[in-house]
Amino acid sequence: MKFFVDTAEIDAIKELNDTGMVDGVTTNPSLIKKSGRDILEVTREICSIVDGPVSAEVVALNADDMIAEGRELAKIAENIAVKLPLTWDGLKACKVLSSEGKMVNVTLCFSANQALLAAKAGATFISPFIGRLDDINLDGMELIEDIRTIYDNFGFKTEILAASIRSVNHVLDSARIGADVITAPPEVIKKLASHPLTDAGLATFMKDAEAAGIKIV
Ligand code: E4P
Repeated sequence: MKFFVDTAEIDAIKELNDTGMVDGVTTNPSLIKKSGRDILEVTREICSIVDGPVSAEVVALNADDMIAEGRELAKIAENIAVKLPLTWDGLKACKVLSSEGKMVNVTLCFSANQALLAAKAGATFISPFIGRLDDINLDGMELIEDIRTIYDNFGFKTEILAASIRSVNHVLDSARIGADVITAPPEVIKKLASHPLTDAGLATFMKDAEAAGIKIV
Protein backbone atom coordinates (compact mmCIF):
# COMPACT_ATOMS: atom_id res chain seq x y z
CA MET A 1 0.00 0.00 0.00
CA LYS A 2 1.25 3.46 -0.90
CA PHE A 3 1.34 6.31 1.62
CA PHE A 4 0.67 9.83 0.44
CA VAL A 5 1.01 12.67 2.93
CA ASP A 6 -1.87 15.13 2.99
CA THR A 7 -0.16 18.46 3.63
CA ALA A 8 1.68 21.39 2.06
CA GLU A 9 4.03 21.77 5.05
CA ILE A 10 7.56 21.31 3.74
CA ASP A 11 9.23 20.30 7.02
CA ALA A 12 6.68 17.55 7.67
CA ILE A 13 7.03 16.23 4.11
CA LYS A 14 10.84 16.19 4.41
CA GLU A 15 10.80 14.34 7.74
CA LEU A 16 8.48 11.60 6.50
CA ASN A 17 10.21 11.40 3.13
CA ASP A 18 13.59 10.86 4.81
CA THR A 19 12.05 7.91 6.68
CA GLY A 20 10.79 6.29 3.47
CA MET A 21 7.14 6.90 4.33
CA VAL A 22 6.19 9.15 1.44
CA ASP A 23 5.09 7.68 -1.88
CA GLY A 24 3.36 10.92 -2.86
CA VAL A 25 1.70 14.09 -1.58
CA THR A 26 -1.82 15.47 -1.77
CA THR A 27 -2.75 19.10 -1.35
CA ASN A 28 -5.98 21.04 -1.69
CA PRO A 29 -6.86 24.76 -1.55
CA SER A 30 -7.42 24.57 2.23
CA LEU A 31 -3.98 23.01 2.80
CA ILE A 32 -2.35 25.61 0.52
CA LYS A 33 -4.11 28.36 2.50
CA LYS A 34 -2.83 26.81 5.74
CA SER A 35 0.75 26.83 4.40
CA GLY A 36 0.45 30.57 3.73
CA ARG A 37 2.39 30.14 0.48
CA ASP A 38 1.81 30.63 -3.23
CA ILE A 39 0.41 27.44 -4.80
CA LEU A 40 2.87 27.27 -7.70
CA GLU A 41 5.89 28.00 -5.50
CA VAL A 42 5.06 25.54 -2.72
CA THR A 43 4.01 22.81 -5.17
CA ARG A 44 7.28 23.22 -7.07
CA GLU A 45 9.20 22.82 -3.81
CA ILE A 46 7.22 19.70 -2.86
CA CYS A 47 7.91 18.18 -6.29
CA SER A 48 11.63 18.79 -5.80
CA ILE A 49 11.56 16.70 -2.60
CA VAL A 50 9.18 13.86 -3.47
CA ASP A 51 9.54 11.53 -6.46
CA GLY A 52 5.97 10.17 -6.44
CA PRO A 53 2.73 11.86 -7.52
CA VAL A 54 2.06 15.30 -6.05
CA SER A 55 -1.61 16.30 -6.32
CA ALA A 56 -2.32 19.97 -6.99
CA GLU A 57 -5.94 21.05 -7.20
CA VAL A 58 -7.57 23.35 -9.75
CA VAL A 59 -9.84 26.14 -8.54
CA ALA A 60 -11.93 26.64 -11.70
CA LEU A 61 -15.47 25.29 -11.90
CA ASN A 62 -16.03 24.86 -15.62
CA ALA A 63 -14.29 22.22 -17.72
CA ASP A 64 -12.42 24.55 -20.09
CA ASP A 65 -10.93 26.58 -17.24
CA MET A 66 -10.10 23.40 -15.29
CA ILE A 67 -8.26 22.08 -18.34
CA ALA A 68 -6.30 25.35 -18.68
CA GLU A 69 -5.40 25.31 -14.97
CA GLY A 70 -4.56 21.61 -15.09
CA ARG A 71 -2.16 22.17 -17.99
CA GLU A 72 -0.52 25.01 -16.08
CA LEU A 73 -0.14 22.91 -12.93
CA ALA A 74 1.25 19.99 -14.94
CA LYS A 75 4.05 22.25 -16.20
CA ILE A 76 5.45 22.46 -12.65
CA ALA A 77 6.95 18.97 -12.75
CA GLU A 78 6.50 15.55 -14.31
CA ASN A 79 5.12 14.10 -11.07
CA ILE A 80 2.14 16.46 -10.83
CA ALA A 81 -1.27 14.79 -10.56
CA VAL A 82 -3.92 17.33 -11.49
CA LYS A 83 -6.65 17.24 -8.86
CA LEU A 84 -10.17 17.79 -10.18
CA PRO A 85 -13.47 17.82 -8.29
CA LEU A 86 -16.00 15.10 -8.95
CA THR A 87 -18.48 17.21 -10.89
CA TRP A 88 -19.67 16.75 -14.44
CA ASP A 89 -17.23 19.45 -15.56
CA GLY A 90 -14.49 17.78 -13.54
CA LEU A 91 -15.14 14.51 -15.37
CA LYS A 92 -14.97 16.27 -18.76
CA ALA A 93 -11.64 17.83 -17.77
CA CYS A 94 -10.46 14.45 -16.46
CA LYS A 95 -11.09 12.82 -19.83
CA VAL A 96 -9.16 15.53 -21.69
CA LEU A 97 -6.20 15.76 -19.31
CA SER A 98 -5.83 12.00 -18.87
CA SER A 99 -5.96 11.58 -22.68
CA GLU A 100 -3.00 13.99 -22.82
CA GLY A 101 -1.09 11.60 -20.57
CA LYS A 102 -1.36 13.68 -17.40
CA MET A 103 -2.02 12.03 -14.05
CA VAL A 104 -5.43 13.02 -12.70
CA ASN A 105 -6.72 12.66 -9.14
CA VAL A 106 -10.50 13.01 -9.00
CA THR A 107 -11.36 14.33 -5.56
CA LEU A 108 -14.40 14.90 -3.34
CA CYS A 109 -15.83 11.46 -4.13
CA PHE A 110 -18.67 10.41 -1.84
CA SER A 111 -20.39 7.60 -3.76
CA ALA A 112 -19.46 4.45 -5.64
CA ASN A 113 -21.33 5.68 -8.71
CA GLN A 114 -19.15 8.79 -8.75
CA ALA A 115 -16.08 6.55 -8.55
CA LEU A 116 -17.36 4.48 -11.47
CA LEU A 117 -17.66 7.62 -13.61
CA ALA A 118 -14.17 8.80 -12.66
CA ALA A 119 -12.68 5.46 -13.72
CA LYS A 120 -14.52 5.64 -17.05
CA ALA A 121 -13.17 9.18 -17.56
CA GLY A 122 -9.63 7.82 -17.18
CA ALA A 123 -8.74 9.01 -13.68
CA THR A 124 -5.39 7.85 -12.34
CA PHE A 125 -6.67 8.15 -8.76
CA ILE A 126 -10.10 8.36 -7.19
CA SER A 127 -10.25 10.04 -3.78
CA PRO A 128 -13.18 8.88 -1.62
CA PHE A 129 -13.34 11.03 1.53
CA ILE A 130 -13.75 8.63 4.44
CA GLY A 131 -13.64 11.04 7.38
CA ARG A 132 -16.18 13.47 5.95
CA LEU A 133 -18.67 10.61 5.46
CA ASP A 134 -18.08 9.41 9.03
CA ASP A 135 -18.67 13.03 10.16
CA ILE A 136 -22.27 12.78 8.93
CA ASN A 137 -22.82 9.28 10.34
CA LEU A 138 -22.30 7.46 7.05
CA ASP A 139 -19.80 4.64 6.61
CA GLY A 140 -16.66 5.78 4.77
CA MET A 141 -15.21 2.26 4.81
CA GLU A 142 -18.29 0.81 3.16
CA LEU A 143 -17.66 3.22 0.28
CA ILE A 144 -14.06 2.04 -0.08
CA GLU A 145 -15.30 -1.56 -0.10
CA ASP A 146 -17.91 -0.83 -2.78
CA ILE A 147 -15.40 0.94 -5.02
CA ARG A 148 -12.89 -1.93 -4.60
CA THR A 149 -15.56 -4.44 -5.64
CA ILE A 150 -16.69 -2.41 -8.65
CA TYR A 151 -13.18 -1.67 -9.90
CA ASP A 152 -12.19 -5.34 -9.51
CA ASN A 153 -15.39 -6.55 -11.22
CA PHE A 154 -14.52 -4.63 -14.36
CA GLY A 155 -10.73 -4.41 -14.21
CA PHE A 156 -10.54 -0.63 -13.86
CA LYS A 157 -6.95 0.50 -13.35
CA THR A 158 -7.86 3.71 -11.45
CA GLU A 159 -6.19 3.57 -8.04
CA ILE A 160 -8.33 3.95 -4.92
CA LEU A 161 -6.79 6.73 -2.84
CA ALA A 162 -8.50 6.65 0.56
CA ALA A 163 -8.65 10.31 1.63
CA SER A 164 -9.90 12.35 4.56
CA ILE A 165 -8.17 9.85 6.83
CA ARG A 166 -8.52 10.92 10.43
CA SER A 167 -7.27 7.96 12.49
CA VAL A 168 -4.91 5.01 12.52
CA ASN A 169 -7.94 2.72 12.27
CA HIS A 170 -8.88 4.36 8.98
CA VAL A 171 -5.42 3.38 7.70
CA LEU A 172 -5.76 -0.21 8.97
CA ASP A 173 -9.25 -0.66 7.53
CA SER A 174 -8.19 0.81 4.17
CA ALA A 175 -5.26 -1.63 4.06
CA ARG A 176 -7.55 -4.57 4.94
CA ILE A 177 -10.02 -3.66 2.21
CA GLY A 178 -7.28 -3.18 -0.35
CA ALA A 179 -7.28 0.55 -1.06
CA ASP A 180 -4.24 1.16 -3.27
CA VAL A 181 -3.17 4.34 -1.47
CA ILE A 182 -4.03 6.26 1.68
CA THR A 183 -3.44 9.95 2.09
CA ALA A 184 -3.21 11.10 5.67
CA PRO A 185 -1.96 14.07 7.68
CA PRO A 186 1.63 13.70 8.95
CA GLU A 187 0.43 13.25 12.56
CA VAL A 188 -1.69 10.22 11.63
CA ILE A 189 1.17 8.59 9.73
CA LYS A 190 3.54 9.11 12.68
CA LYS A 191 0.94 7.79 15.12
CA LEU A 192 1.01 4.43 13.29
CA ALA A 193 4.35 3.80 15.05
CA SER A 194 2.88 4.19 18.55
CA HIS A 195 1.90 1.39 20.90
CA PRO A 196 1.64 1.61 24.71
CA LEU A 197 3.37 -1.77 25.10
CA THR A 198 6.30 -0.47 23.04
CA ASP A 199 6.56 2.54 25.37
CA ALA A 200 6.28 0.38 28.51
CA GLY A 201 8.79 -2.20 27.25
CA LEU A 202 11.26 0.51 26.28
CA ALA A 203 10.97 2.18 29.69
CA THR A 204 11.91 -1.14 31.37
CA PHE A 205 14.82 -1.74 29.00
CA MET A 206 16.15 1.79 29.63
CA LYS A 207 15.93 1.33 33.40
CA ASP A 208 17.75 -2.00 33.24
CA ALA A 209 20.35 -0.60 30.82
CA GLU A 210 21.10 2.16 33.29
CA ALA A 211 21.26 -0.28 36.24
CA ALA A 212 23.63 -2.56 34.30
CA GLY A 213 25.76 0.38 33.19
CA ILE A 214 25.38 -0.62 29.53
CA LYS A 215 27.26 1.76 27.19
CA ILE A 216 27.67 1.07 23.49
CA VAL A 217 29.37 4.17 22.06
C1 E4P B 1 -7.43 14.57 0.02
O1 E4P B 1 -6.87 14.63 -1.04
C2 E4P B 1 -7.86 15.72 0.81
O2 E4P B 1 -6.89 16.71 0.69
C3 E4P B 1 -8.00 15.42 2.28
O3 E4P B 1 -7.76 14.06 2.56
C4 E4P B 1 -9.21 15.98 2.92
O4 E4P B 1 -9.21 15.63 4.28
P1 E4P B 1 -10.15 16.36 5.36
O5 E4P B 1 -11.55 15.86 5.18
O6 E4P B 1 -9.58 15.94 6.69
O7 E4P B 1 -10.03 17.84 5.11
